[in-house]
Amino acid sequence: MTNKKKPLIRVKGLYKVFGKDPQSVLPRVKAGDEKDAILVETGHTVGLQDISLEIHSGEIFVIMGLSGSGKSTLIRHFNRLIDPTEGVLEVDGTDVMSLDAKALQEFRRHKMSMVFQRFGLMPHRTVIQNVAYGLQVQGVDKETRSAKAQEWLDTVGLSGYESQYPAQLSGGQQQRVGLARALCTDAEILLMDEAFSALDPLIRSEMQDQLIGLQEKLHKTIIFITHDLDEALRLGDRIAILRDGKLIQQGTPVDILLRPADEYVEAFVKDVNRARALTVDTVMQPQYCRISADTIGEAIAQMKQAKASHGYYVNDDGYQGALTKEGLSQYEEHEYGNEIDDTVLEDVPAIQPDSLLEKVIPDTLESDLPLPVVDEDGELQGELSRANIADVLSDTGNNDDGDGDAKPKQVF
Ligand SMILES: Nc1ncnc2c1ncn2[C@@H]1O[C@H](COP(=O)(O)OP(=O)(O)OP(=O)(O)O)[C@@H](O)[C@H]1O
Ligand SMILES: [Mg+2]
Repeated sequence: MTNKKKPLIRVKGLYKVFGKDPQSVLPRVKAGDEKDAILVETGHTVGLQDISLEIHSGEIFVIMGLSGSGKSTLIRHFNRLIDPTEGVLEVDGTDVMSLDAKALQEFRRHKMSMVFQRFGLMPHRTVIQNVAYGLQVQGVDKETRSAKAQEWLDTVGLSGYESQYPAQLSGGQQQRVGLARALCTDAEILLMDEAFSALDPLIRSEMQDQLIGLQEKLHKTIIFITHDLDEALRLGDRIAILRDGKLIQQGTPVDILLRPADEYVEAFVKDVNRARALTVDTVMQPQYCRISADTIGEAIAQMKQAKASHGYYVNDDGYQGALTKEGLSQYEEHEYGNEIDDTVLEDVPAIQPDSLLEKVIPDTLESDLPLPVVDEDGELQGELSRANIADVLSDTGNNDDGDGDAKPKQVF
C-alpha cells in the first residue's frame, strides 16, 4: 500500500480463545486444528486466529462474516472489553494492553463510542438525557451537555423529542438517539456492531444515507459490523471478511466484488448487482488529461505533453467540455491564438464520483469519449470509459488465476 500514514488502529497477530485455560489450547489453534474439533476435545472456543489489520483515520471499515465468525469479538478488543489471548493492539500508537484501569476508563470515555444493534438506551431516562449521558460521565456540566446533546439531536433529525422516553420512539428513531449519543462525546472512533440490523429496510437505508452524510462532515473513523453485503458495499471504504475467527480477505468494495479470495467470499458476492453496488469513483481511471489553456495552440501543446488523445477543458467556472487531438488537428496554425469556446469543445457530459454505475451506464455507452468525473466542487477526479464499465460488469472474478498473466483459453 502506498498509504504511509500511521494507522489509527493496528492489530497484529491477534488470537482469542475462550475457555478455562486458553494458553494451553493456543498451540493447537496455531497448528491449524479445526475450531469445531478444539471445542469438542477441549471445551475451548476459538474466537479469533492470527488477525492482523490496520484501520486508518477517517475511513469506514466494515467487518463482515457469518454468525459466530468473530466480528463482535474483534471489535470488543478495540476498546478492551475483551483481552486478547495473544497479539498486539494499538490505538493511536498506544498499546491498549498497557493501559491501567484509570487510563483505560479515560480511553473508553473519550476515544471510542459504541452504537449497539438493540440501541442500548436507558429506558428511564429521556431522550436528551440518554444522548448527554456520555458527557455526564465525563463530568461535563449540565448546561454544556444539554446544549451539546440538543445539537446532536437536531443533527439526526429528532428535534422535539427531547423529553420523550425511548419506548415512545420507533426503532429508527431510537437508533438515531443511539447515534446521537455516540457522536455527542466527540469520540474519534465509532464502533457500530450491527447498528442498523434491527431496522426495517427503508429506515435502514435512510440511516445509511444519514451516516454517509454525517461522515462527509465529521470524518470519524467508523468500524461497522454487518451481515449485509449491500450495506457493506455502500458504507465501506474497506471491508474485512471473517470466517471461523480468521481474516479471509480485506480490501476495497471493488476488490471484494471482483477478486473474491475464496469460495466463502464468492458466495457472499455472487448475487450482487455490480452496477447497483459500485459507484463511479471505485471504477474510474484516476488519470486523465486536464486542459486549462486559454487558446487552441496551448491546448494542443498541453495535450501533446500529456501524450493524450483527448482531454477535459477546465476554466474558472469548472469543467466546460472535452477536446480531442483529432478535433484540434483541424485547426490551422493561424488559428492557434483563438480562444477555446463552445465551437471548439465537444459536449461530453460530466458524471459524479458518488453516482451508482447503473445511473451513468447509458451516458457512458453513448459517448465516444470517456466521461469526465467531476466532484461537487467542480474538480475533475478522473474519467470513466465504456471499457471500465465492461470490465467490471463482465468480470466474474474467478477467471483469473491471480498471477496477472492471463492466458488465452483453450477452445478445443
Ligand atoms: N464470552 C464468550 N465466551 C465464550 N465464547 C464466546 C464468547 N464470546 C464469543 N464467543 C465465541 O466466539 C465466536 C465468535 O463470536 P462473535 O460473537 O464474535 O461472533 P459474531 O461474528 O459477532 O456473530 P454474530 O453475527 O452472531 O453476532 C463464537 O464461536 C462464539 O461462540
Ligand atoms: Mg456479533
